[in-house]
Amino acid sequence: MSLEQAREAIAEASYVAFFTGAGMSTESGIPTFRGSGGLWEGFRPEELATPGAFASSPRRVWDWYCWRRQKVAEAVPHAGHLAVADYLERHPGGVVTQNVDGLHQRSGCPEVIELHGSLWRRRCQVCDLEEPDDSTEYPELPVCSSCGGSFRPGVVWFGESLPPGPWGQAPKLLQRADVIIVVGTSAVVEPAASLVGWSRSEATTVIEVNPDPAHGGAVLQIAQGAGEALPRLLL
Ligand code: OAD
Repeated sequence: MSLEQAREAIAEASYVAFFTGAGMSTESGIPTFRGSGGLWEGFRPEELATPGAFASSPRRVWDWYCWRRQKVAEAVPHAGHLAVADYLERHPGGVVTQNVDGLHQRSGCPEVIELHGSLWRRRCQVCDLEEPDDSTEYPELPVCSSCGGSFRPGVVWFGESLPPGPWGQAPKLLQRADVIIVVGTSAVVEPAASLVGWSRSEATTVIEVNPDPAHGGAVLQIAQGAGEALPRLLL
């Protein structure tokens, strides 16, 4: 399929779904998880993004999340985010994202399902109270106003299940789509990596945007960054 045919498929679609990963935010200055310059390069994930790491060093893990919040707070959505938001303002569709940065929402996307939680929320480890949180430093580690339990970041860590709400909603959103645009994911972290494959039908047109395409099953792979490819595809 050519780019022009992909644009036609999008123009004829009754519902377009976007499935995004860390590469969606690269051009906003937020490092990806894997690959050169990836977030995990300088840090071992098992030292920071696991329940065990948090249990043994909550201060270190919170400091890392506060640092990430600071980086994301300084970032702005790029032309690719804006093209998706603009498209969804005018057409039926939605976003399923593995990202926790909230940039799709900040760019104005009406419907975003967050599979891996959000940097901008915290959850009580005892009573599960969840609340918004934009702190970029904690002189004292945060405790729950309701039960006094310790708060943890509102994200999914290695070895944890995906939150049941988003995990239930995501396949429904993807199944509605006649076109699924997969952007910026290495498609290695399960179960999110398999979600598009499970949800699509044979008739679904899957398009991938990634300078280093990784997603099998796409009829068109656009080997460009999201900021360049998405406006060309959508506007
Ligand atoms: P990865 O870091 O694994 O992959 C990022 C992908 O983005 C790679 O395939 C890059 O080629 C691509 N990429 C880089 N620059 C890009 C650009 N400008 N435009 C488009 N694509 C670009 O990120 P994810 O697949 O999202 O999970 O990682 C999945 C999960 O692994 C994350 O959600 C996180 C991590 O562990 C949790 O935190 C639970």
